[in-house]
Amino acid sequence: MKTINAPRSASHGAPRSARQSTRAMRRALGRGGRALGRGGRAAGTAFAFAVLACVSARPALAADADAATIQRGAYLAAVGDCAACHTAPHGKPFAGGLPMNTPLGRIYTTNITPNPDTGIGGYTQADFARALREGVAKDGHNLYPAMPYPSYAKVRDEDIAALYAYFMHGVQPVNQANRESDIKWPMNMRWPLKIWNAVFLDKAAYRDKPGKDAAWNRGAYLVQGLGHCGSCHTPRGIAFNEKALDESGDAWLTGALLDGWYASNLTGEHNTGLGRWSEADLAQFLKTGANSHASAFGSMTDVINKSTQTMNDADVNAIAAYLKSLPAAGGDGRPAYAYDGEATKVSLSRPANDAGARVYTAYCMHCHGADGRGFAPMFAPLAGNPNVLENDASSLINVTLNGTGDLVIQGIPAPYPMPSYSGVLSDQQIADVLTFIRAGWNNKAGAVSVAQVAKMRSQTQAAR
Ligand code: HEC
Ligand code: HEC
Ligand code: HEC
Repeated sequence: MKTINAPRSASHGAPRSARQSTRAMRRALGRGGRALGRGGRAAGTAFAFAVLACVSARPALAADADAATIQRGAYLAAVGDCAACHTAPHGKPFAGGLPMNTPLGRIYTTNITPNPDTGIGGYTQADFARALREGVAKDGHNLYPAMPYPSYAKVRDEDIAALYAYFMHGVQPVNQANRESDIKWPMNMRWPLKIWNAVFLDKAAYRDKPGKDAAWNRGAYLVQGLGHCGSCHTPRGIAFNEKALDESGDAWLTGALLDGWYASNLTGEHNTGLGRWSEADLAQFLKTGANSHASAFGSMTDVINKSTQTMNDADVNAIAAYLKSLPAAGGDGRPAYAYDGEATKVSLSRPANDAGARVYTAYCMHCHGADGRGFAPMFAPLAGNPNVLENDASSLINVTLNGTGDLVIQGIPAPYPMPSYSGVLSDQQIADVLTFIRAGWNNKAGAVSVAQVAKMRSQTQAAR
């Protein structure tokens, strides 16, 4: 069986499902709003009864689980992108069932709606906090770290309380049993995770760093904690552990390959990282999925669709301020990129001389431009694009073979997403065109081989 082109789910795949999940999220939030007891709008006694029945079947409303807290919990659930994993492409919000590939085999996300039998309706706030921060379910079994609890460990008590209020009172309970993992005995034994946790888990919630301002600390808290950016962007060690969980570690956010997508370097590195981006560029990317340097694709599309675009300006700016404070790391010492269109113009004017240039002029140039500068933010530039300069070409091969699911910003899908070329171009042609792009416009990144393309083709499928 082929693994899905996007790491966590097929949900980044088909554009239809991206739209559907956004709708599902909105539905979930809408329901939250109603369960808050804005009774005025909820006309009809039947509905009132349904809500009452719902609420009484759940743990008693804590004194602080008021409407505002539930709403804040809904906001935080989007920041934490719980829906990315706990809502399956055609499934009910938060009812689980999404397959996830781990090094040991395939596992399925679980039902975190407040259904008492199949969901987390029986969880106390302390049980919920333990699941999020320590990776232990109510019945005591350890969760696989595919649930990003090593990041969520940093979430503070007041935010855990708001999330709990939302999941108990703002999410519709769904009766849907969890699915066993495909991991076979003995690898499915969960007790070794206790040892893993003892070695790799830091249970301390985030503490403000003295000497840093409030925005920096807010940004650090969100990136390291609920945002779990490092779970994709930080390289992993042999035990699937993130090599660093904050800026004190050298490997922190220096980029990593996960399920066919290379999550970019987010440090100040000048070629492959964010060194040439301003804070405003970064904020624009997180809000809209594109800026003059690059645009979101692969697994980042889902993060933008469901999570970062929903954040308020203060939080997005705080994340930008924190990321821009990270010194360059993970680079390979190449000099900083400088645009040069001349050499590439020559080969594009005589494309017969270069197999890659021939493919580029026929298939890519009308969107990405003869000058490689694209038409940002609609069509990503390829000249100087950090993803193009990256040593690991996986993302480039994957996006060219499979295209990308729609970016959906404020409900509107991107009009001209990157098409899929798996049915159009051979492995040789894709290797040629990517080698051309990586050498063009002074990009100076290494060649892509036919074998690399063939391997990616065998492991992935088109997003559309
Ligand atoms: C990257 C994917 C991912 C994200 C994001 C994620 N989870 Fe999970 N979560 C999982 C997986 C996978 C499991 C089940 C792990 C297992 O079976 O060992 C799980 C399990 C849980 C459990 C334990 C319940 C049970 O019965 O297994 C809770 C509670 C939970 N998640 C809550 C959340 C909340 C709240 C958020 C958002 C703040 C969230 N999760 C975000 C993947 C994710
Ligand atoms: C599910 C995995 C995943 C998570 C979680 C994730 N990212 Fe990404 N991110 C990626 C991938 C893959 C790319 C490369 C593709 C692209 O540029 O869109 C990327 C690219 C980016 C880029 C563009 C960098 C460039 O050079 O083009 C930024 C900025 C970014 N991510 C920020 C974040 C932040 C901030 C968070 C946490 C709030 C985050 N990401 C969480 C997978 C992820
Ligand atoms: C219909 C217009 C269109 C055509 C044709 C097209 N692309 Fe794209 N491409 C895009 C868009 C739009 C993006 C940005 C990703 C997104 O938002 O879907 C993109 C993104 C990319 C990226 C990732 C860079 C980034 O940061 O987003 C690469 C690499 C790429 N294209 C290569 C190619 C190659 C190689 C070809 C020809 C074989 C090609 N594209 C043809 C529209 C196009």
